[in-house]
Amino acid sequence: MKVYITTAILTIVLLLGAICYRQQVWPNAMLPVDEEQQGLNKQIVINFSHVVAEDTPKGQAAIKFAEILEQKSNGRIHVVIYPNGMLYNDNNELKALQNNDVQMIAPTFSKMTKTIPTWEILDLPYLFHTDEEVEDVLNGRIGEQLLNQLNRVNIKGLAFWNNGFKQMSSEKKPLLKWEDFKNLKVRTMPSHVLQSQFELLGASSINTSFDELYTEVEKHKIDAQENTLSNIYSKGFYKVQNHITLTNHGLLGYAVLMNEDFWNSLPQDLQDDVVEAMQEATEWNFQIAKKLNQQDLEKLKKDPNIDLNTLSVAEQKKWEKKFKPLYSSYEKNINSTFLEEIRSEIHH
Ligand code: LMR
Repeated sequence: MKVYITTAILTIVLLLGAICYRQQVWPNAMLPVDEEQQGLNKQIVINFSHVVAEDTPKGQAAIKFAEILEQKSNGRIHVVIYPNGMLYNDNNELKALQNNDVQMIAPTFSKMTKTIPTWEILDLPYLFHTDEEVEDVLNGRIGEQLLNQLNRVNIKGLAFWNNGFKQMSSEKKPLLKWEDFKNLKVRTMPSHVLQSQFELLGASSINTSFDELYTEVEKHKIDAQENTLSNIYSKGFYKVQNHITLTNHGLLGYAVLMNEDFWNSLPQDLQDDVVEAMQEATEWNFQIAKKLNQQDLEKLKKDPNIDLNTLSVAEQKKWEKKFKPLYSSYEKNINSTFLEEIRSEIHH
């Protein structure tokens, strides 16, 4: 009888051992050392989510940043990019960043104005007139001041990236004078200044997130929108809104943001790598932004269905006059000294 019980226990132990080994429930200490796996365990992953196509200034800058940082950190940091709003969209990306569900996002500064009202200044129409002015401000001491304001909301602002000047696209008719906006439904990003600017022209503004925008345009729920040519082209808005007026009336740029706790968790040498990689990617972004928008302009010019117009200088002067209340409202309600600072920086 004793032999029978011993044999049975031995059989059960051997069976359990075989099952554990097959199911990999073996204690790690017993497994052969996997050098590569250990290397991967030490690797730090940055998940970088954004809402535009890859062949855009932001999409390309994100890829460039990832390449440079992986190289500088000798593979210790791996950046995974989620473009086109595939992971998070306008409505949930900021919360995801603050929860560290994603480590980096790059929203337009317009979409940050509810969080940081001082940033409304960057939405003021016809504040900037040249790419040089944009670069001086966004990549200079004023840009640094603006990014530092993110500290109060536990976000690490790494840089500003550029897309370019916004143009108008519309479906039913070309927008050649401010009276053409009367009673139109114009899509804007969630920014008080952007919504007010079109209301001053007699239109109503509709806030639609970028990932839902094409559907709303396709359903003819939006008569017109402001955006850069790279966004108008890469998302196909021109297929419905085939009237495009080159107005250069406002700037579309991005704040490149990192979760602050994640930033603080990086050792100094990796923080230095992030800063250097961001500086190089930002320089590259400003160079390619103008080129990509110019390329998309050439493509639109070749499209026989596109009605392309340029706002006349005389009409631009009328728009600037109509927009003046936006400046006095900013000075009165947000920050007057900052407006003087940015103007002196631009007109130095
Ligand atoms: C938009 O919503 O139109 C833009 O912010 C999209 C983008 O990020 O360029």
